[in-house]
Amino acid sequence: MKIITVDNYEEMSALAAKIIAETVGSNPFATLGLATGSTVLGVYARLCKMCADGEISFANVKAVNLDEYVGLDPDHPQSYAYYMKRNLFDHIDIDLCNTFIPCGTALDLHDECDGYNNMLDLMPRDLQLLGLGSDGHIAFNEPNSPFDCRTRVVQLAESTIRDNSRLFESPSDVPTRAISMGIADVMSAQKLLLLASGLNKAQAVKAMVEGAVTEACPASVLQRHDDVTVIVDKLAASLLNK
Ligand code: GLP
Repeated sequence: MKIITVDNYEEMSALAAKIIAETVGSNPFATLGLATGSTVLGVYARLCKMCADGEISFANVKAVNLDEYVGLDPDHPQSYAYYMKRNLFDHIDIDLCNTFIPCGTALDLHDECDGYNNMLDLMPRDLQLLGLGSDGHIAFNEPNSPFDCRTRVVQLAESTIRDNSRLFESPSDVPTRAISMGIADVMSAQKLLLLASGLNKAQAVKAMVEGAVTEACPASVLQRHDDVTVIVDKLAASLLNK
């Protein structure tokens, strides 16, 4: 694991955007695994600007997202499909036909997961961007998810519902289930880029980097991947042994 500690959120976002731009620059047909959440918003803002400035093109890029809430249709303002359009896809030159997000309102959720897994098998990701849950989750793979799991319907942990309730009117509005790419799917990407910012991620960062590799901390599995870059700001890195 390559751990890069930066001063703040802005530096973290700028460096991550640079790494993604380099990936797309060296392979304009790259497949990117994309994440949602507050952590990656700064990265997306920078990619939008780079694209507007003509520094980067996503015209031939494919984008595959990690997860979606069960029960929220793509037009719901808190859905991850809506998030991706508002924060990235509407502002770059990507072909929307080349963007993939699980459908949280599919009639048969298990068919939806099977279809997503088949799609992932055909579309290896060159780079997977990741955030980190305060409980150590990656995508929506909560603690004790098997390391070999694939895309499936998952139950969200109480702490995740609490963390994510800031974006909903009330905690009871937060869906309790999601479709999440599995840990095996995350690990199959050629390169992983995980970002964490703020004190509320410090414990999870420490467990991910210095703890045992255990399903109790899903992100600890990253220790087994041979091309991982972790960018953390000072607060998120504050519990790491120097
Ligand atoms: C969410 C998402 C993850 C995200 C993580 C961190 O629940 N499912 O993909 O990376 O938790 O979110 P945030 O960046 O808002 O802290």
